[in-house]
Amino acid sequence: MRQVIEFELNGQEVSAAVTGGQTLLDLLRDEFELYGVKEGCGAGECGACTVIVDGLALTACIFPAREVEGASVTTIEGLASAQGELHPIQESFVNQGAVQCGFCTPGNVLSAKALLDENPSPSEEEIRVAIAGNLCRCTGYTQIVEAIQDAAGRKS
Ligand code: FES
Ligand code: FES
Repeated sequence: MRQVIEFELNGQEVSAAVTGGQTLLDLLRDEFELYGVKEGCGAGECGACTVIVDGLALTACIFPAREVEGASVTTIEGLASAQGELHPIQESFVNQGAVQCGFCTPGNVLSAKALLDENPSPSEEEIRVAIAGNLCRCTGYTQIVEAIQDAAGRKS
């Protein structure tokens, strides 16, 4: 049975008819065509599907769609300005060489955003903890950590 939910998606009020078993990942990709939300493992283990819900980075592949009723959801599509200017965290990822194949990048950027919104000056350890659930096969993580440090430096 479908249930109509309303929530905020990248700053816009939206509604959707969801089923009980539908994941937030499927809702965002299939109904809203937000393909920056990647499907990797589908089991909550790789972080490719990370989005921000009410300030918390979480894995959309195991999060029930109906639970975003009344919440604020941010995907990678919500970060750049309407004019297409990259968010400072995205700029830092580009500048620090933290993007290679790019599959993990939306998730890592959103985990970084949730961290920096909560803690504008994180330690390296805090950064590594924040992205611990975001697997990257390409970069070895050093550039990702440096990108987040760079982004934190720009904000302060
Ligand atoms: S696709 Fe969601 S954690 Fe891997
Ligand atoms: S840039 Fe390829 S998986 Fe991270």
